[in-house]
Amino acid sequence: MTETAPKGLPGAFMLGSHRVTTPVMLSPMAGVTNWPFRVLCEGYGPDGLYVAEMITARALTARNPKALRLCRFAPSESFRSLQLYGVDPHILEQAARIVVDNHMADHIDLNFGCPVPKVTRRGGGSALPWKLDLFREILRHVIRVCRPAGIPVTAKIRVGIDDSHTTFLDAGRIAEDEGCAMVTLHARTTAEYYGGHSDWNRISELVQALDIPVFGNGDIWTAEDALEMARTTGCAGVAIGRGCQGRPWLFADIKNAFAGSPERVNPTLGQVGQVILRHAGLLVEFYDGDERMAVHDLRKHAAWYLKGFPVGGSTRKAFMECETLDDVRRTVDSLDPDIPFPEAIADKPRGRVRYAKKVHLPYGWLESRDLSPEQRRDLFESDPLDDVY
Ligand SMILES: Cc1cc2nc3c(=O)[nH]c(=O)nc-3n(C[C@H](O)[C@H](O)[C@H](O)COP(=O)(O)O)c2cc1C
Repeated sequence: MTETAPKGLPGAFMLGSHRVTTPVMLSPMAGVTNWPFRVLCEGYGPDGLYVAEMITARALTARNPKALRLCRFAPSESFRSLQLYGVDPHILEQAARIVVDNHMADHIDLNFGCPVPKVTRRGGGSALPWKLDLFREILRHVIRVCRPAGIPVTAKIRVGIDDSHTTFLDAGRIAEDEGCAMVTLHARTTAEYYGGHSDWNRISELVQALDIPVFGNGDIWTAEDALEMARTTGCAGVAIGRGCQGRPWLFADIKNAFAGSPERVNPTLGQVGQVILRHAGLLVEFYDGDERMAVHDLRKHAAWYLKGFPVGGSTRKAFMECETLDDVRRTVDSLDPDIPFPEAIADKPRGRVRYAKKVHLPYGWLESRDLSPEQRRDLFESDPLDDVY
């Protein structure tokens, strides 16, 4: 806490030697938090943390071009946060070594929260902390590469696999013990996936259990939600995922809220159109001038930007059919600029909202908290995410 934070609200904190003035994080989101989106978010709320989407350690060690593109940062990103995913401590160590030796980032977050079946089925993401030895081993290997370089390592975790198999308290204690600079808790289990409401009591429990900063994550749709999470859990900061999809200005709202200001950004449709155009332009840079790829990437964002605005199906369809920047410009020009921001939907969930149909785990995974030699062999043989790149 700093002297400047209003009572009961989190203030600046140190992540390694870096001072994070506003304790808010853009939570890593695959397919979303590439540098164009991060730059937009950071423009509204400078001095928080803006984390790149997860990169698989194997893809990085293979110098996969798509993975390397995701590791790029914009010149304006003065503090660069990468997230790595993997199950093999040695591969993760190699990936961290690449990041360190090539000065690719200033902070590494490790993904232990992914609930996607093809990840958990291989013991990765949110399934991994169940195996206490493997979890510890991964942190130890990565931290021993990063610490001498002054790169803080953080862990992003879930509550556990399901209500009967929680992992967050053990994982948090191990993370602290091994030297993690911070832990982010997405307060859902794997089984809950993105359904229902996250259980913020779990965040309070972790805050009580640890000395290192705990960031709370789950269901922050407005600055008021961020205030409520901070006040009720005592978390050191908040991480925002789906709430900022199509609303990068949420970071301005949260920055204002944490500074005690009631000021909020409620852009008109005309202003949102300008953000869409800026986003499109940045994506063209990201894709090295390939307008088609940029505009295809923009499609999902366009749908999020327009959410709640009374624009017809034909306009939404027009965005989905854009192939060039000129198409985007024409479609933005067709918007009525005076339509006010649809405040009524601002606090409603957006993006993924469903429960898992079933939790997929490696055979016999829950039988023991340690990795058997067979599981170790099976797990490290191949990585399911190799084929995503
Ligand atoms: C489309 C999408 C992609 C995601 N990708 C990642 C990821 O790459 N790494 C990660 O740790 N979490 C990922 N997440 C989880 C989010 O970072 C966040 O923990 C989760 O959405 C809960 O926060 P929210 O309620 O603010 O959305 C993803 C979530 C979504 C919706």
